Amino acid sequence: MTPPLRALVFDAYGTLFDPFAVRTRAEELFPGNGVALSQLWRSKQLEYSWLRTMMGRYENFWKITEDALVFSCRMLKLSSDKHQQDQLMQAYLTLPAFPEVKPALEKLSYLPLSVLSNGTPEMLSPLVASNGMTDFFKHIFSVDALRMYKPRPEIYKHAVASLGVSNDEIGFVSSNYWDIAGATSFGFRTYWLNRGAGTGDELGFTPSAIFASLLELPRVLT
Ligand code: 2OP
Repeated sequence: MTPPLRALVFDAYGTLFDPFAVRTRAEELFPGNGVALSQLWRSKQLEYSWLRTMMGRYENFWKITEDALVFSCRMLKLSSDKHQQDQLMQAYLTLPAFPEVKPALEKLSYLPLSVLSNGTPEMLSPLVASNGMTDFFKHIFSVDALRMYKPRPEIYKHAVASLGVSNDEIGFVSSNYWDIAGATSFGFRTYWLNRGAGTGDELGFTPSAIFASLLELPRVLT
């Protein structure tokens, strides 16, 4: 029999907070390139997290986010100076939450809620605070404590130790399918927030439920 859920853990970027919101600042700085820069920046950031984990060459998420930005500007042939890069990096500390996140968290807060993210503690605390969400979360777990990135199983295990409940009593929510696959493989019950009608990867692991808005999760869990 499936045990009741005793904790919910959320991915941060793309799930709670919108990393593509940087396109507004990017468009002001590089007219006509805001969307392309925000998309390339995000995909390189993730690629660097996986490559550095495979290479055993950890650098924290702030550094790889900066490196991904420098690469993306070079690739798109945008001549950017340090001041422009700093402005885009600062935008990362105040990314907006997706509009339905706060009302959904209010409905879900009968369970202990936590964040488990690639971001450093120095990135995640201001992000959660700037969205007025600090009181929602029991823990904000960062991979930085382990110096490796998701989807390494050690990262998901790190959260279990602090939550004090077993893997299958933890519901993990992410919009990133690769993260859902990693968390399912580890043993979490997983919930894929598929806002963009994306296609799940062929990795052999499927979530317990799929929905297009976080507001659907309270109903899915009852
Ligand atoms: C996270 O917050 C990278 O979006 C991913 O960990």
